Amino acid sequence: MLIAPSILSADMANLKSEVDMLNASAAEWIHFDIMDGVFVPNLSFGFPILEAVRRCTRKPLDVHLMMVQPERYAERFKESGASILTVQYEACTHLHRVLERIKKLDMKAGVAINPHTPVSALEEVAALADLVLVMSVDPGFGGQAFIENSYDKISRVSELLLRKNSSAPVEVDGGVTLDNAPKIKAAGAGVLVAGSLVFTAPRPQETIALLAEI
Ligand code: DX5
Ligand code: ZN
Repeated sequence: MLIAPSILSADMANLKSEVDMLNASAAEWIHFDIMDGVFVPNLSFGFPILEAVRRCTRKPLDVHLMMVQPERYAERFKESGASILTVQYEACTHLHRVLERIKKLDMKAGVAINPHTPVSALEEVAALADLVLVMSVDPGFGGQAFIENSYDKISRVSELLLRKNSSAPVEVDGGVTLDNAPKIKAAGAGVLVAGSLVFTAPRPQETIALLAEI
């Protein structure tokens, strides 16, 4: 299981030591939740934080855009060090164009779906996406409870990708715990985002290792 701890829950006053902790952990990617106060009812952080972390790690930066008109900033996110750029299906009128643009900028292009968005919405873009992110909470905040319907949804996304001959992983984001992680993996997830679980753990690296071993 590939683990992507979410910086949203890190101690921003000690960001360097948080990233050093991740560098020495089993985390494969570092997840960034970019919130614009429009697509989601919250603001998080932007380029300065991303660039600061980029200078402290070699791990791929997995950037999740919870914002309207993400295409306006694709190039800027590339310059800031993003390796994977994931946009929300609900925020893109021209999703096909946005995914192609991200790929052209030499980043992996991900598409995220909110809890209310049906898997069938991905039918026409599944073959193009490098990653599909299933939101297992309503986006906007860390520390929310996992929505139970997500297990079934993860399985259906995995089936869709298989049917499209895609090797894109399914990433699951929101409410991941040590209890539900095995069931999330069994449903077909390949990447787990973990925010509050990791950063409130007494020994974060052990928690990451436990998740990675699932
Ligand atoms: C939610 C974000 C998540 C969040 C996960 O809007 O997309 O990535 O950081 O946090 P936890 O793991 O605490 O639910
Ligand atoms: Zn996220």
